[in-house]
Amino acid sequence: MVLRSKHTPRSPSYLLPCVLALSLFSLTGLLLYKVDDVISRTGTVVGHNLEPTPWHVFPHKPFDEETRQQRAYKILQCSYLTCRYAAADSGEARRKFPGGGGECPDFFGAIRRDLEPWMESRITEGHVAGAQRLAAFRVVIVDGKMFVDWYYACVQSRAMFTLWGLLQLMKRYPGKVPDVDMMFDCMDKPTVNRIEYQGMPVPLFRYCTTKEHFDIPFPDWSFWGWSEINIRPWNEEFPDIKRGSQRISWRNRVPRAYWKGNPDVSSPIRVELLSCNHSRKWGAQIMRQDWDEAARDGFKESRLADQCHHRYKIYAEGYAWSVSLKYILACDSVALLIAPQYEDFFSRGLVPEHNFWPVDPLKLCPSIKYAVEWGNQHLEEAEAIGRRGQEFMESLTIDRIYEYMFHLIYEYSKLQDFKPTPPPTSLEVCEESLLCFADEKQRAFLRRSTASPAPTPPCNLKPPP
Ligand SMILES: *[C@@H]1O[C@H](CO)[C@@H](O)[C@H](O)[C@H]1NC(C)=O
Repeated sequence: MVLRSKHTPRSPSYLLPCVLALSLFSLTGLLLYKVDDVISRTGTVVGHNLEPTPWHVFPHKPFDEETRQQRAYKILQCSYLTCRYAAADSGEARRKFPGGGGECPDFFGAIRRDLEPWMESRITEGHVAGAQRLAAFRVVIVDGKMFVDWYYACVQSRAMFTLWGLLQLMKRYPGKVPDVDMMFDCMDKPTVNRIEYQGMPVPLFRYCTTKEHFDIPFPDWSFWGWSEINIRPWNEEFPDIKRGSQRISWRNRVPRAYWKGNPDVSSPIRVELLSCNHSRKWGAQIMRQDWDEAARDGFKESRLADQCHHRYKIYAEGYAWSVSLKYILACDSVALLIAPQYEDFFSRGLVPEHNFWPVDPLKLCPSIKYAVEWGNQHLEEAEAIGRRGQEFMESLTIDRIYEYMFHLIYEYSKLQDFKPTPPPTSLEVCEESLLCFADEKQRAFLRRSTASPAPTPPCNLKPPP
């Protein structure tokens, strides 16, 4: 009794701090463990903790940060702590436009054709969920904020520049981009086959489609830049190519058809093209692009602006769709298109013999020879085809591209029969978080393709006929 009364008042005095310290210690430990666990499962725009897409495998990406701690810190910083402190779009930039936006170009009509499969059924949560196994990531926009759920890594910086484009769209039309839930894939081959999916078409955005696929074409990343091979944002690259094309007048150019690229991409047409490499016999000059060598000299030799020396330029699809079409059309050479199977959002606006010349893949070399001979005998007409090709690309300004994205997303959102909500595993992606993950060169490209609010509303999409 005496013993107890002597000791009881004392026991809490050291026990309490001990217990407190111990629990704080284990709590911190638990927290650190938890944080570590979360971070090792967080997918990021540069591909942390993500596998390459199984339908198109590519090497794992190298990461800048050396240690595990550095990586954890970067993911914590960029993915979890950046957007919270970024200035939210308060909607104050929301504006009333003074005038009308004018009519959209004809090729915007493809938006309705692309969305046609869901006109009757509308787009349900089931449709979106059905596209998930073909998608690399999911974008959910709610109240002007963008959330991304990652499934697979994208090759190079495609995901980063694609998401940047979407963020710039929201900047261009503040408060106007509707709530939307979209699945994206970032590889070059469409996957939603029309026969296989005829019972239940699933909506999947990617950079191209074909007549046999339901995939919905979306402007590709390179309009905002392709830092790995030094292709700058379109609003810098196009004017530069145009200036380059003006250095030699069309008539003074080499009167032959030119192609430079990589024939080793399991593309039968590119292999066959090698056999047309004979200036006198076929009127064609076919060159191999050595990417490793080009990379070593920093792509100085492959500057696109220095590639308009020929009257005719050949476009040949590679493994699938190719980003090079826009750059070929941008030179005012006559674009010789070898029956493209893949379409991107703008190529639906091309008209044969008006702004390009079609080449028959079944009679490849003779067809190229015919085009070259015809052009060299009809200088004025041929020159005009080349010029109209360039004019078409000139009219495709980055502002036009934002208008296209706006209408595509708007029409898509009208078909959704549910209210989009960010999935629990998604994270907000904002400009600051992309810049946080970007390397120095990517950051420079991203900054240079920043959009500002549009002074006029988007063009008017023609009503359905
Ligand atoms: C095509 O022919 C030219 C000139 O003969 C040659 O320099 C070039 O290497 C050839 N291209 C290929 C891909 O073999």
